[in-house]
Amino acid sequence: MQADELKQIFREGWMNSSVVEHRVERFIEGEFGFEPSFQAWRSVLKQAIGERNVASAVDMGTGPGTIAQFWAAMGIETTGVDFSATMLAAAREVAAKKGLKINFVEGDAEQPPLKEGTFDLLSSRAVLFTLPHPGYAVARWVRLLRPGGLMVLIGEIPPADSNKQKRAFRPAQGWKPDETYREAMSQLPFREHTDQMLRVVMEAAGLIEIKNLQMDEVISAREVHDKLDPEYGVLQGTPYILTGRRPE
Ligand SMILES: C[S@@+](CC[C@H](N)C(=O)[O-])C[C@H]1O[C@@H](n2cnc3c(N)ncnc32)[C@H](O)[C@@H]1O
Repeated sequence: MQADELKQIFREGWMNSSVVEHRVERFIEGEFGFEPSFQAWRSVLKQAIGERNVASAVDMGTGPGTIAQFWAAMGIETTGVDFSATMLAAAREVAAKKGLKINFVEGDAEQPPLKEGTFDLLSSRAVLFTLPHPGYAVARWVRLLRPGGLMVLIGEIPPADSNKQKRAFRPAQGWKPDETYREAMSQLPFREHTDQMLRVVMEAAGLIEIKNLQMDEVISAREVHDKLDPEYGVLQGTPYILTGRRPE
């Protein structure tokens, strides 16, 4: 299948209302709605920024605005990009409920409809795995940053342990990938990737000072969440955040 065909198939999947509801329930209300986890993510995202002066941020494949909400709450002028209009409708609702001002833009993360060289920070969480050209996307994202700007890429290394895989598995109710969708997924180069693989892509895209942030706080909060609510199905993988800087 050609990339455009793949994207069309995935876009339909990400537009499905059950998938959108699932994403809101699982992350906005679930992991990020659990106060210790919310605080832990906020703390590590603040560490990513450090002493930098960040006035503008863009979150690619923002979904319901999961990461965009953190930047906006820090007083950063925030844009969220996604190619699913229903996901963006949910994101607008979440932002309104939280009293956050976020500019949501419908567009393809591999061809972002944004001006190059304008953002102090670009983030993306759990998106590269679903793109046909993840390496190209990272290279394009570097160009959106101002010289010296910061990229923050967030992901999850899936658990190797099958018991853990089962415990974390909570599919969206009312939507199942069909044969065509599964075939399209099998063509994705980053369907399963580690932080080490992503590091190489970031280097190739010209980023410097690439760092893995310490995720202990997030992992401890997940352990607390898991004990309190064993039915919830806390993600059992290893979360990572990689940061890199566009050279001046
Ligand atoms: C797994 S969700 C992650 C959402 C959000 N970043 C989070 O952490 O909860 C992947 C998101 O990427 C979006 N997406 C996938 N491919 C895209 C593309 N080519 N352009 C824009 N958005 C895309 C989907 O619509 C979906 O909202």
